[in-house]
Amino acid sequence: MPKASHADEPSHSRSRQGFLVAESRLDYLELWHTVPGHPRRISRILPRLAMSISPSDHATAHDEPRSTASPGSLGPSTMAVHAGEARQKPGDAITDAVFLASTYTFANTDAIIAFLEEGIEREEYGRYGNPGERVVERKLAAIEGGEDAVLFGSGMGGLVGLLMAHLSGGDEVIFFDECYHRSREFCSKHLTRYGVGFKQVKTCDYDAMEAAITPATKMLVSESPTNPHLSIIDVDRFAEIGRRHGVLTMIDATLCTPFNLRPLDAGVDFVLHSATKYLGGHNDLLAGVVVGSRELMEPIRKLRGIMGGVNSPHNAYLLERGLKTLPLRMERHNANGLAVARFLESHPRVERVYYPGLESHPHHDVACRTMRGCGGLVTFLLADADWKATSAVIDRVRIPRIGPSLGGVESLIEQPMVMSYWNYSPAERAAFGIPDSMIRIACGIEDADDLIADLAQALATD
Ligand SMILES: Cc1ncc(COP(=O)(O)O)c(C=O)c1O
Repeated sequence: MPKASHADEPSHSRSRQGFLVAESRLDYLELWHTVPGHPRRISRILPRLAMSISPSDHATAHDEPRSTASPGSLGPSTMAVHAGEARQKPGDAITDAVFLASTYTFANTDAIIAFLEEGIEREEYGRYGNPGERVVERKLAAIEGGEDAVLFGSGMGGLVGLLMAHLSGGDEVIFFDECYHRSREFCSKHLTRYGVGFKQVKTCDYDAMEAAITPATKMLVSESPTNPHLSIIDVDRFAEIGRRHGVLTMIDATLCTPFNLRPLDAGVDFVLHSATKYLGGHNDLLAGVVVGSRELMEPIRKLRGIMGGVNSPHNAYLLERGLKTLPLRMERHNANGLAVARFLESHPRVERVYYPGLESHPHHDVACRTMRGCGGLVTFLLADADWKATSAVIDRVRIPRIGPSLGGVESLIEQPMVMSYWNYSPAERAAFGIPDSMIRIACGIEDADDLIADLAQALATD
């Protein structure tokens, strides 16, 4: 099968081609409101967010992060608040309008013909785009460091759109085996019906991934951190394997967010998010987004216009609003995650804690080298507890709500065996690495001391 045509080029120079690069701080701001329609490359102004996450950094998570930014560049919070938005908005309002239109009208036939022939950027029909959606796509592209972003109705909608747009019968896709189980299920049960091969290899086994590549391999897929095991992928190594073999690479970065890691900077081709989680951040919307180069995003945008997996104008606005506080929220999620993980690690009823910010985590060094923080998700195993004793701890918790999902301001807690794997056999659960005594807490932005006190009372033996 044909390989990705850009195989031999270093990804960084490749991805810079044709970028609209601003040279001064003023230019950056101008850029946002002089470029209508599709997003332009403005990620150069976002510093690479890779920061040391030594334990002392975590302990003072509200400290100003050490930035590698060049003078004149804008920080992640400034970008999150302003990027992608017009300076003057409809009605001179400070916030963006929500356009509920399903269709967009033309003044006359000449206007239609001008739109069709001159490539004028404007809306036509809701399935192809919405003004509010374009704002949030530009913002997402900017904060993720991509040229273009395409918004979908959910994270799964984004995954399906991305894979369907870039894979054809006879191609093959290789996943790390800790990727979201529904993503792998889409490949194993559905893409295979269209002749697309699916393989999975052990997470972080880069040699196995490389050995699995064949001439049919078109894409490598990973997630980082993984859920619920919190494995950390070495993004540089992952991207380098794809580049060397002329194979596209995709990272589901839902759990790290662009605040903690920007995989495109490492040369990964696509970033996928379930924006339902940290990007939206308030447990009140479903959304998905794929970010990448304009060239690679174009078929995805076109396919979305046919598939119809669009989001609603209201959701797009809620996502824009949520993104404005992403860096602030992530600082708190990072701090809470580490504080709760440290508490759990010291608790006698806890057998094991999975949290990459802990020195005991096998990928702690990779996390320190590549990430700014490790987020709010903490997974742990109770010592000597069957599934009922584990459920009893969850049922005693008072602050986190019991439910699936993560990344919102409200903490959530769940027992994966019950919540997500109830219908699987014990052998299947063992294969997934889901013991009955596993608990996953998605720390929200409450006070860490309150979360810890609550967990302490829930873990207290009767
Ligand atoms: C890592 C990851 N990717 C993708 C998805 C799918 O996202 P959505 O629920 O928005 O479709 C999820 C959902 O839990 C997830 O955890």
